[in-house]
Amino acid sequence: MPIKDLFTHNRAWAAQMERERPGFFSGLTQQQRPKYMWIGCSDSRVPANQITGLEPGEVFVHRNVANVVVHSDLNALSAIQFAVEMLKVEHIMVVGHYGCGGVQAALDGTRIGLADNWIRHIQDVRDRHRSLLDTVESHERANALVDLNVIEQVVNVCVSTVMCDAWAKGQKVTVHGWAYGIHDGLLQDLRMSVASTDAIEPLYRAAIEGVLAARKPA
Ligand code: CO
Repeated sequence: MPIKDLFTHNRAWAAQMERERPGFFSGLTQQQRPKYMWIGCSDSRVPANQITGLEPGEVFVHRNVANVVVHSDLNALSAIQFAVEMLKVEHIMVVGHYGCGGVQAALDGTRIGLADNWIRHIQDVRDRHRSLLDTVESHERANALVDLNVIEQVVNVCVSTVMCDAWAKGQKVTVHGWAYGIHDGLLQDLRMSVASTDAIEPLYRAAIEGVLAARKPA
């Protein structure tokens, strides 16, 4: 699609929205009140709003290569803090996707360039779960690492100062781990939905066992 068509589509979309729901855009100028925060991969095949049927104003989005949440990443942490403390989102979902190039590169040890240092975080996940990954068949290994990466990043969100403080104050926020299939368009719940600091450990262990149960050869 030529780049000028993006403006043509934009004008048509804005006009259609306003025609179907007069006042839609002026309503959004007041304040965003999304209930959801999406932390996903930058991959162009995983658009948060379209997949979930959420409209402008309904989901606060942070995306990076392979949906990684690192404790020193001020970008991700600032987004999480804003979402939790200012917007008061009720749910944060960390969403990985099958067929993720970043996860595949981490699994294979492929050198890409600067991003190797980012992907190193996923290799840490790989190395931590080496024995589990060795028990699943090779064609399932990348999918298993997608799941494990999501579960580990959910933990990283949960142990952040932002979430520790929010839960200590009694704020109701649940952090979820999901995985999306670019091959079928479907979201899977990895059963890692954490609503308190105490729940992290047992849910983590159950979710890891769930990955093994789902992926190990029959
Ligand atoms: Co990806």
